[in-house]
Amino acid sequence: KTPYVVTSKSFAAVAINCAAKAGEWIKSKQGTVKQLNTKTSAQDLVTEVDKGAEMMIRKLILTHFPDHAILGEEGVGPGAEASAEALSAVREEEYVWIIDPVDGTTNYVHGFPFYSVSIALAYQDEVILGVIYDPSRDELFIAEKGKGAYVHGNPTRVSGELTLTESLLATGFPIDAEFNLPQNMAGLQALLPKVRNLRAGGSAALHMAYVAAGRLSGYWEIGLNAWDVAAGALLVEESGGRVTDTVGKPYDLGVRNIVATNGAFHQELLDTLAEAQGTGYRS
Ligand code: IPD
Ligand code: CA
Ligand code: CA
Ligand code: CA
Repeated sequence: KTPYVVTSKSFAAVAINCAAKAGEWIKSKQGTVKQLNTKTSAQDLVTEVDKGAEMMIRKLILTHFPDHAILGEEGVGPGAEASAEALSAVREEEYVWIIDPVDGTTNYVHGFPFYSVSIALAYQDEVILGVIYDPSRDELFIAEKGKGAYVHGNPTRVSGELTLTESLLATGFPIDAEFNLPQNMAGLQALLPKVRNLRAGGSAALHMAYVAAGRLSGYWEIGLNAWDVAAGALLVEESGGRVTDTVGKPYDLGVRNIVATNGAFHQELLDTLAEAQGTGYRS
């Protein structure tokens, strides 16, 4: 492998520019959505704003880096199979940008101000840059591999809770609700009595940024895609946290069932999910 060097500054500058521009535009369009379409189910929403924001980001990236590959949610057909195929098609490329133009479309459509733009850059299949922008709060989170993570220039650090009992966790309800329902309910049932409390804010990327910033102790969710968590995973790791799948495999771009914590009670969370397997939980 060629070691990753140079130009990281310009990668970061482009990513920030994309997230800020798209975010500003998305926010300006809030409440004006004209085309509300569905993808895999009545719960899986997409709007012209998701598509427009992705186009905007793609164009900007390609202006600067015409040779780079791009994996964007709205450039991929609906469903888990199409997502897996699209991911494997780009994993061999040297540089791949991974975009979720609006993470939290349901919130966006309802005017619930908790959604984000998520942009990651992978080099030789490893995430080296992650930017998450929350237009509602004008908060920009950025992480660069080996260089730490920041929110508006201030270093982020995961929280200090040592046990599950003290933790504030977040989760989300997968779009493929019917398929994932038994597993999701079993995980919820096992964890809810053991934690301080649970939140489900509706943006995977923002949940992970909040774990990085110590605002949440941890987050888990099943049935996600690379664009939901790529930027967030680097943010959490660069803030001193731990990111694996639900059986403890270290994070990589193919991970769909994510567990991100401050590290301290990560194993305890994994063990609780494993115990839930007997009640219908699959990994
Ligand atoms: C969704 C959000 C949500 C999570 C879903 C994702 P989208 O992404 O991250 O929080 O629960 O599983 O699909 O479709 O709004 O980009
Ligand atoms: Ca979506
Ligand atoms: Ca998403
Ligand atoms: Ca999205």
